[in-house]
Amino acid sequence: MDSIVSLKSMGKVFHTKNGDVKALDDINLDIKKGEIFGIIGLSGAGKSTLVRCINYLEIPTEGDVFFEGKGLKTMTEAQIRDVRRNMGMIFQQFNLLSQRNILKNVCFPLEISGVGKAEAIKRARELLKLVGLSDREKAYPAQLSGGQKQRVAIARAIATNPKLLLCDEATSALDPKTTKQILELVKDINKNMGITVIVITHEMKVIESICDRVAIIENSKIAEMGKVEDIFSNPKSDIGKKLILGDAFQSKEIVSGVKLRIEFDGRSSFEPVLSNMILSCGIPVNILYAKTKDIGGAAVGHMIIQISGEEEALKVKRYMDSIGMIYHEVEFAEEKEEIE
Ligand SMILES: Nc1ncnc2c1ncn2[C@@H]1O[C@H](COP(=O)(O)OP(=O)(O)OP(=O)(O)O)[C@@H](O)[C@H]1O
Ligand SMILES: [Mg+2]
Repeated sequence: MDSIVSLKSMGKVFHTKNGDVKALDDINLDIKKGEIFGIIGLSGAGKSTLVRCINYLEIPTEGDVFFEGKGLKTMTEAQIRDVRRNMGMIFQQFNLLSQRNILKNVCFPLEISGVGKAEAIKRARELLKLVGLSDREKAYPAQLSGGQKQRVAIARAIATNPKLLLCDEATSALDPKTTKQILELVKDINKNMGITVIVITHEMKVIESICDRVAIIENSKIAEMGKVEDIFSNPKSDIGKKLILGDAFQSKEIVSGVKLRIEFDGRSSFEPVLSNMILSCGIPVNILYAKTKDIGGAAVGHMIIQISGEEEALKVKRYMDSIGMIYHEVEFAEEKEEIE
């Protein structure tokens, strides 16, 4: 697959009156045509700066951005505008024009790019139909729910047929059910219209539900990057562990016995593994923590089980070796959590 966007040794330093702020440092990324790529990190990690550098609203102070193989640094203003026209963007705060009804909000980018009024209205109506808001074209943004506003913003963002859709915390202001619907819409747009999507979020659930690959960013740098199922089943960086394993690893509660962390890498689902293990070893195990998710029909994630003694643990380890499961003995204490 070809790259649509490449970032090469990209860095960004903001010069402020209180000194320099390094927002991005040595970022190297290749976004493939047609994929949904996630960028996750804690607040202040540099995510929004990254996305603003991709569309050159911020100019990198190191390295460069390549769009379809062409470096933006040496482009003229007009060429950069042309690149930007190929990038739609949606935000947490929707950024709709409050004085215009939603049909006119969607017409706006079309008018700017020189499409005639009648043509713009026709296209805007098609887009509102696509996002499920045909019956609300006369409504003003203030009369819509958050999810509806984001649908309008999506229609507006894709009005000019961009090749890339940038989503900066697009679902962070929405409840879980609406989040799911908006993510489904983004997924449909990616699939049916072939638009590459970059999703910026601080929520792992957003990454799991729609992304193909993910980069975890911390303190201005990429901490790790890979396929979502790989990162999920075995996060390697501290920040990856923190985001994926969550609070379970911070509990100070003491748990006796041997603790094994079992990884599910997408080759099996967890129920048969667990029940066969109990059957074959003939010993009870206690699930201390489980965070397994079904991603595209395969179980990924991890589970921590507790086994009462060393001898019993040996049996379990032998069984897991025999079926090729990956596991690690963990030393620290975890808190019991419900299986999601
Ligand atoms: N225009 C600016 N001038 C100075 N510093 C900035 C500017 N924009 C961002 N920064 C700094 O760069 C760093 C990264 O900010 P950025 O907004 O990219 O983080 P983020 O990961 O998007 O955070 P959040 O999850 O809170 O949106 C922060 O330390 C921030 O204060
Ligand atoms: Mg941000």
